[in-house]
Amino acid sequence: MSNQGCDIGLIGLGTMGRNFVLNMADHGFAVAVYNRTAEKTKDFMDHEVGARTIQAGYDLQEFVGLLRRPRALILLVAAGDPVDAVLRELLPWLEPGDLIIDAGNSHFTDTNRRFKILAAKNLKFMGMGISGGEAGARSGPSLMPGGSREMYDRVAPILEAAAAHINGEPCVTYLGPRSAGHYVKMVHNGIEYGLMELIAETYDLLKRGLGLTPAELAPIYDRWNREELNSFLIEITAKIFTRRDDRTGQFLVEMILDKAKQKGTGRWTSWDAMDLQAGTPTIDVAVVMRDMSGYKEERENSARFLTGPSPIFPGDRERFLGQVQNALYAGMIATYAQGLALLQKASTAYDYGLDLEAVARIWRGGCIIRAALLEDVRTAYKARADLPNLIMDPRLGKEFMSREADLREVVKTAVTLGLPAPGLMATLSYFDAYRSAVLPANLIQAQRDFFGAHTYERLDAPGTFHTQWEED
Ligand code: 6PG
Repeated sequence: MSNQGCDIGLIGLGTMGRNFVLNMADHGFAVAVYNRTAEKTKDFMDHEVGARTIQAGYDLQEFVGLLRRPRALILLVAAGDPVDAVLRELLPWLEPGDLIIDAGNSHFTDTNRRFKILAAKNLKFMGMGISGGEAGARSGPSLMPGGSREMYDRVAPILEAAAAHINGEPCVTYLGPRSAGHYVKMVHNGIEYGLMELIAETYDLLKRGLGLTPAELAPIYDRWNREELNSFLIEITAKIFTRRDDRTGQFLVEMILDKAKQKGTGRWTSWDAMDLQAGTPTIDVAVVMRDMSGYKEERENSARFLTGPSPIFPGDRERFLGQVQNALYAGMIATYAQGLALLQKASTAYDYGLDLEAVARIWRGGCIIRAALLEDVRTAYKARADLPNLIMDPRLGKEFMSREADLREVVKTAVTLGLPAPGLMATLSYFDAYRSAVLPANLIQAQRDFFGAHTYERLDAPGTFHTQWEED
């Protein structure tokens, strides 16, 4: 710690907060901490801090007094009202030039609002996404900061030291003004939803279609993780399949209620993709399937009388396994493609000036969607910063197309077996729509003009046209 006080402060000693404090302190930074519940602070100071340079404030005045001026402090509290509540309590103790970094999963419009309110008080504000869960916060997360570059530079040594590193490069960079960081984190989570849904669909096809047990699934996903699907989510999926339940001795995954919860970030991604007309069907479907999973009781009832085909796959099992692996990789490419195309649109719409190569670079380590594929994504945007869609990158387009036939086969099989695979289906239709020079939207335009005189454009002449479709 310098004579003038701690380098950085952190409010919110939940698991993420505690781990991030220890991470920063282990990199030689002096950290001041505060938590609304004093017992939590005391417990942390007594049991976890050890010899590290960490000081506690037991009220906000004391906490703020521990910080070197101009102050920099990170909020790691639940998104939504708790952020506004902490800001309200904190403001009386801060001075012009002090910097607050909201590192929660805040909605980007909240970040824009807070940015304005604080700027009017001469306070600096940054919205920063942090990904990687508890382990990432402790040993190196991916950090997605937005705000002013000047403020980023002020805290860059701390963030760059604490972030994950891949080939010596920190998984953090300045992303853009105002809410750019929180927007990128939101889309990260949208991609996370899409990938999780696709993986879940492959699990269902292999479990109900091939009748494989978790013990049989574990080595399959483990092998996939050592090949082109290499990624954090596939890695943990393989580990999940090996885990036994302490209570029953069964495989734990089979004992977990099949209702997927959500805090909302995937839904926010779909909402904004709709607002920007970006089209993110794999992500949208992932949100819908979490919603449908919630109808457990209804599903149990309907399963008694709504019948379908036998889910048992009758064909060549080894071949099908290879097709599923390829379909999943194609789905993975398309999910990143949708998320990054959304970021490309948002960057223009919200004037973020995003560098998508940098986004891919900081997602390669620390975060939930880290994957070997991101190295290719990075290369794609390095070659062409304004790439409209990753599938148009020569390398990734080829990777997708070499798996397209298998994706189609897997979708057909899912249809035949009556197993829901809307993520894979949406991915395939997204690809088929994106590669269609002609879509049936001409008919939709004709219908709109028929019933509402909404007009249409023509292929052979400029301007807008209206037809009296029926004689009076
Ligand atoms: C991360 C995660 C993290 C959190 C998700 C869970 O990047 O570390 O995305 O932010 O685990 O928000 O989201 P749901 O509760 O909506 O699944």
